[in-house]
Amino acid sequence: MDLSTDLPLLVASAAAALLGTLLLFGGKSSGRTILLTRRSHVKYAKKKVPQAAVDRALEAAILAPNHFLSEPWRFYQCGAETIKKFAALNADKADACLAVPGMMVVTLTSKHKLDEKLGLEDHAAVSCAVQNFMLSLHAEGLASKWMTGAMGIAPEKILEAVGAPEGEKMMAVVWFGYAGEKKATPPKRKLGVAGCYTKLA
Ligand SMILES: Cc1cc2nc3c(=O)[nH]c(=O)nc-3n(C[C@H](O)[C@H](O)[C@H](O)COP(=O)(O)O)c2cc1C
Repeated sequence: MDLSTDLPLLVASAAAALLGTLLLFGGKSSGRTILLTRRSHVKYAKKKVPQAAVDRALEAAILAPNHFLSEPWRFYQCGAETIKKFAALNADKADACLAVPGMMVVTLTSKHKLDEKLGLEDHAAVSCAVQNFMLSLHAEGLASKWMTGAMGIAPEKILEAVGAPEGEKMMAVVWFGYAGEKKATPPKRKLGVAGCYTKLA
């Protein structure tokens, strides 16, 4: 072994092995950190989002729990042309809209009525998928925000703009990109855990 050439390689292999071990055994706490530190962002940097990160977020989204494997979600990734369509639908929010690097419209498609058990479950599953999508982006250093009303555009207009078929319901327009602002603390939850939790004997 020639230490002058092999030493850097050995050091790099040892570092990789250590990192692997930390990721393996530290996975629990780092996953929790991802959960605790995701925040909704409205301001984004003018920096291109890697499509691979979006693809990985979609892979995470479709692994959300869903009863009977109904897979009740559909995703429409909006490019610049589609974002321009949204901007044209509400002049008051056009500038804010055009400053968002990426948008994913998520819809619900269900065979069931939405006030019935299985329809409600499909609705819940899509919410889980949206959260998975945002958490995956966050794990890769990207910010996001789940939008519904604040775009000031009727859901049916959004569905029309993305070409969603009849019957799909709009669940989210997820804005995403690299954060354009720091968000250190979450908005305070009024109830806290104590206000929404009962521990039974
Ligand atoms: C179903 C749903 C719809 C939402 N729609 C909007 C919206 O239209 N406008 C908005 O500003 N935030 C919207 N949000 C984001 C919440 O305002 C945000 O999650 C909340 O303020 C908590 O902040 P955090 O995500 O940083 O914890 C929505 C969140 C959910 C779950």
